[in-house]
Amino acid sequence: MKDLFSIEGKIALVTGSTGALGMAFTKGLAQQGATVILNGRNKKKLDGKVVELQNDGFKAFAYVFDVTNGALVNKAVQDIEREIGPIDILVNNAGIQVRAPLDEFKDEDWQNIIAVNLTGAYIVAKAVVQSMIKRRSGKIINIGSVQNELGRPNIAPYAASKGGLKMLTKGMAVDWAKYNIQVNGIGPGYFKTEMTKALYENPEFDAWLRGRTPSNRWGNPDELIGALIFLASDASSYVNGHMIYVDGGLLASV
Ligand SMILES: NC(=O)c1ccc[n+]([C@@H]2O[C@H](COP(=O)([O-])OP(=O)(O)OC[C@H]3O[C@@H](n4cnc5c(N)ncnc54)[C@H](OP(=O)(O)O)[C@@H]3O)[C@@H](O)[C@H]2O)c1
Repeated sequence: MKDLFSIEGKIALVTGSTGALGMAFTKGLAQQGATVILNGRNKKKLDGKVVELQNDGFKAFAYVFDVTNGALVNKAVQDIEREIGPIDILVNNAGIQVRAPLDEFKDEDWQNIIAVNLTGAYIVAKAVVQSMIKRRSGKIINIGSVQNELGRPNIAPYAASKGGLKMLTKGMAVDWAKYNIQVNGIGPGYFKTEMTKALYENPEFDAWLRGRTPSNRWGNPDELIGALIFLASDASSYVNGHMIYVDGGLLASV
């Protein structure tokens, strides 16, 4: 059983790894023996996180790039594969949120949300999958949301991007399963991070969320790691195109 879930010695790239969920994913992978590649747009923030992981004894490296910039992504993936080794596990985690009623939404914000949350996952996966196809092996894990399935006031563009990511996950799985590449996703419920600060600092929202979630609480980022290791390891070798919701039961209830 230990080997079934082993990712020892694998190389994993986590996009957007300076945020709380990205950092939890990165640390979770490193704790199971993977070499981890951190990413974000802010070099200073990234370097700080890498030092944190290295001080804990993990093999960690940082590559700065914007997931929406195809040329930068292609160069970074080539650099990573030359300098560290072939990427075995990709976690498409970079994401942004802007909240406003749809009728007042700024077009620029719509474009940015779709560019990072949906197009970014396509760009990075397309770059990384090239060597996975050659090696007939790979794991791609797209970080969706309960908003893959549910709307909520003021976040229609985010929900559209995550719903699109769910279908992109299926599309990637369908095209790449024949190369022994498993593409799946994780749909987190609500976790306290920079992205949700405005929500958890609002007592009304906090009370609503607890009432709406059968577990009656916010998630702890470490609670996402079990699903991550399952999807990153041989344990999921015949699992293709699915989203695992780690949401305290939120999607199970109205
Ligand atoms: N928090 C939750 O409750 C929750 C629930 C469901 C799903 N999610 C999803 O989980 C993922 C992580 O969320 P989080 O809460 O940890 O968010 P966060 O704290 O806001 O972190 C977002 C990360 O993405 C990076 N990023 C943003 N735009 C980028 C770009 N264009 N290129 C590269 N990196 C970029 C940020 O770094 P830089 O700004 O330095 O680039 C940061 O590392 C997102 O996809 C989010 O939609 C979160």
